[in-house]
Amino acid sequence: MTQKEASTLLLFGAKGNLARVKLFPGLFKLDLAGKLHPDMKIVSIGRQEESHEEWIINLKSIIRAKYDKDLNQTVLDRFLNRNIYHANLPDDPDAFTKLSDRLSQEGFSQNLAFFLSVRPSDFALIVDQLAEANLLNESSHWKRVLIEKPFGVNTETAQALQDSISKHLKESQIYRIDHYLGKFALQNILFTRFYNTLLEPIWNNQYIDHIQVTNHETLGVGDRTTFYDATGALRDMMQSHILQTLTLATMEKPKSFSPNDVREEKIKLLNQIKPVPIDDFEKYVFRAQYTSGTISNEGEVKGYLEELGQESNVETYAAVKFFIDNNRWRDVPIYLRTAKRLHENATYISVKLKPIKTPNGEINDNWIIISIQPKESIHIEINTKVPGLDDAKSRKIQLDGGLRFEGDETIDSYETLMLDLIEGNQSRFLHIDEVNAQWKLIDPIVEKWQDSSVPVHSYPAGSKDPIDSKIIFENSDQFWRSSINIE
Ligand code: BG6
Repeated sequence: MTQKEASTLLLFGAKGNLARVKLFPGLFKLDLAGKLHPDMKIVSIGRQEESHEEWIINLKSIIRAKYDKDLNQTVLDRFLNRNIYHANLPDDPDAFTKLSDRLSQEGFSQNLAFFLSVRPSDFALIVDQLAEANLLNESSHWKRVLIEKPFGVNTETAQALQDSISKHLKESQIYRIDHYLGKFALQNILFTRFYNTLLEPIWNNQYIDHIQVTNHETLGVGDRTTFYDATGALRDMMQSHILQTLTLATMEKPKSFSPNDVREEKIKLLNQIKPVPIDDFEKYVFRAQYTSGTISNEGEVKGYLEELGQESNVETYAAVKFFIDNNRWRDVPIYLRTAKRLHENATYISVKLKPIKTPNGEINDNWIIISIQPKESIHIEINTKVPGLDDAKSRKIQLDGGLRFEGDETIDSYETLMLDLIEGNQSRFLHIDEVNAQWKLIDPIVEKWQDSSVPVHSYPAGSKDPIDSKIIFENSDQFWRSSINIE
C-alpha cells in the first residue's frame, strides 16, 4: 500500500557504507514495490560539495550494482527523480539555516524524517542544529529522528545523549534503531509463541530447563578495528540484538500489539533480568578472542590482535548467563553467546525442555529451536519409538518448518524500518527505557572486564565455542546447542 501522506526523508551519512549497502538499495526496492508516496523526496546530506549530476550517477551505480539484471527503467527514473543531494559543509555556521531554506522550497513535504547514520558523537550535535534551524517543530507537520546504534556506550552516556536530544524531541519523535527488530523471523516470535496452544502453556519454568540465544558469525572485524576495539562483542551485539531477541522470546503477552503495549511489556521483562552477581562473576560470564585460523569460504585468516596491530583485551566472543526474576522464568538459566569468526553464521533461540526418563532409562530431551538466520524456521525434536518388536528402542525425530514459502514477500530489515519511520510506527524501535535497562545489564560486566586479571581466552578462527565457555552452565548435562544445519 502506498503511503497516505507525502514526506521528505533526509539521510545524514548518505555517503557511508550503510547508505550504500542497505539504505539506497532498500529505498529503491520500496519504490519498486509501490510503497513510497509519489511526492516523497529523499535528500542526501553530505559534508562535501557535489553536483546533482554527480550524485545521480553515484546513485545509479549503487542501484545497478544491486539490481543489475531486471532493472525497471521507469522505476529507476522515478526513484532518481526523488533524490536530491545537499551539502552541509562542516565549517559553514549557516549550514542548517541553508538546509531549512532549501526545504522550504516548493516540492518538499514538511513531514520530515531525519535518518542519522553518522558517528555517534554527532547525534546530539545534529539534533541541536536541527532544532536551532526550527526543523523539529511539529506545530503543523510531523518531524521524526532515527538514531543509529549505538545509543551511548554505557548507561551514563546513553542518559547524556537522551538528556540532550529530549530538549528538542518528544519520545514519540525518536526512533532508536536495533535492526534485528526489522528481521521477519524476530517479528514472528511473538506470533508463534502466543498463537499456538502447543507452545504457550509450556513456555515457563515448569517445563523449560533452559534457554540459549546464539549469534555466531564467520566474519571477522574487517576494517572496523578501531570501532570494534572500543566496543567489543558484548556492547556491539549483546547489549542490543541479543537482549532484544531474548526479550521477544520471554516477555509476557502484551495487552495489544500496539507499539506502546508491546514496548511496555518489553521494558518490564528487561527490568526483570537480574544483573550478573559480581562476586560469582566467573560462573556467569566468559570472554575470548579469535586467533588465526581457517574459515570455510575465506581460507586462512588472521587473528584479532594481528588485525588490530596491538595488544588488546577486547572480546570477540562473549557468553553470559542471566536469570529472569518473575513467576514465569524464575530459576531458568538463560545463556547468551555471540562471536565473530566462529565456524558458522547462525542466529537462533534454542529452548530445552525438562528431561523425562523413558522406561528403559534413556533421557528424552526435547528441544525447540527458533532459527532467525540464515534459515528462518521452527524446529522441534521429539523422541519416538522405533518400529519393531523392541519396546525399549527409541529415537529422535525432527519436525522442521521453514517460515518462508516460495513467492513470499522478502523485505529486508532496513526496508521495514525505513517504512516504519515514514509511516510513524515505533513498535520496532527502542524506547529509552529499553536502552537503559539493556545498559544496566551490560555495564557491570564491562567494568569488571577492565580488570586485567579476568582472563581473555582464545579460540582459533573457524572453530566452535571455546571449551572453557562451558564454565557458565548451571548443570554438567547442559551444553551449547548447535544449530539445526538442515538445508
Ligand atoms: C551490527 C554489528 O549491529 O550487527 C556488527 O555492529 C554485526 O558487528 C551485525 O556484524 C550483524 O547483523 P546481521 O544482520 O548481519 O546479523
